[in-house]
Amino acid sequence: MAEQRAASLADLPAGGCKLVEVGGTPVVLARVGDQVYACGSTCSHQGGPLGEGVLRGTRLTCPWHGWMYDVRSGQCLLPARGGAIATYPVRIESGEVWVDMP
Ligand code: FES
Repeated sequence: MAEQRAASLADLPAGGCKLVEVGGTPVVLARVGDQVYACGSTCSHQGGPLGEGVLRGTRLTCPWHGWMYDVRSGQCLLPARGGAIATYPVRIESGEVWVDMP
């Protein structure tokens, strides 16, 4: 595991998400209240760009066909049979967001 700086907290829109690159890997950072969650950017359905998805609470919806994921666990909520996406541990320190990449 290697923790890497991913963004400044100030650059993440409250209640929204942002696509960043962490160690060469595209990662979606989702800001939910004071928490930030990091997940993979590729939808498990047909590879849609989750960085362009819509975040409502902890639910991120793919812009292509509407599959929905829980950004805390990566679990696909809709449809229930959908495959999960990756999630990564996040730490916030002094206004900086750090992501632990495998
Ligand atoms: S590619 Fe994401 S819902 Fe189809």
